[in-house]
Amino acid sequence: MKSTINNTVEFVKEKLEGAEAGHDWFHIERVWKLARKIAETEDCDQDVVELSALLHDIADPKFHNGDETIAPKISREFLEQQNIPNETIEKVLFVINNISFKNRDQAPQNPPIELKIVQDADRIDAIGAIGVARVFNFGGFKNNPIYNPEIQPNLNMSKDQYKKSNGTTINHFYEKLLLLKDLMNTEEGKKLAVERHDYMLNFLDQFYKEWNVD
Ligand code: ADP
Ligand code: NI
Repeated sequence: MKSTINNTVEFVKEKLEGAEAGHDWFHIERVWKLARKIAETEDCDQDVVELSALLHDIADPKFHNGDETIAPKISREFLEQQNIPNETIEKVLFVINNISFKNRDQAPQNPPIELKIVQDADRIDAIGAIGVARVFNFGGFKNNPIYNPEIQPNLNMSKDQYKKSNGTTINHFYEKLLLLKDLMNTEEGKKLAVERHDYMLNFLDQFYKEWNVD
């Protein structure tokens, strides 16, 4: 498996060349490491965890006109060229197809532990100081306003509204980032989320203090 993991690393690095900085190889590397860390505390298939973490953003629909079929297709083609049991390939594809926050309405009833782990890892990288950096990079990439006190967060967006949202980046904290702590699946994920969650609350306090110059 070691060589397959190495091949996957090389494949993903190449595919993500020039990606938006919040969804680039370094995001994948952090999620991979976080997923391994959480996996140590759970009874799971380590290969499925590592391969899913590495492939989970290979073709993010956000950057492909909303097309959700590209990532599974590319991943399957790649995995089938490697010497991997079919069962492992199916498990990896299941994780990749179900990891997304915006698809949480259609989440599977009894998710496999490997999905829970990689989803937690991906969500942990969306919060804390890294989360703050990523959210503003993405907001800038979309040319969204940083903040507008007249635009309220929308907590009941449909999947389509969420994808098209050109709301403010500060609102994204309320629409997603601050919700993640309580959506963690694993005990280790919950532990890792607490400090990062508090950091974002402090960031927001300071942000409003500086915004409201008196
Ligand atoms: P998923 O890929 O799990 O469905 P998202 O598409 O919501 O999740 O986003 C992944 C990351 O991209 C977020 O954690 C955030 O950093 C950034 N992001 C997504 N949507 C926005 C947005 N509207 N404004 C700012 N950042 C965003
Ligand atoms: Ni991701």
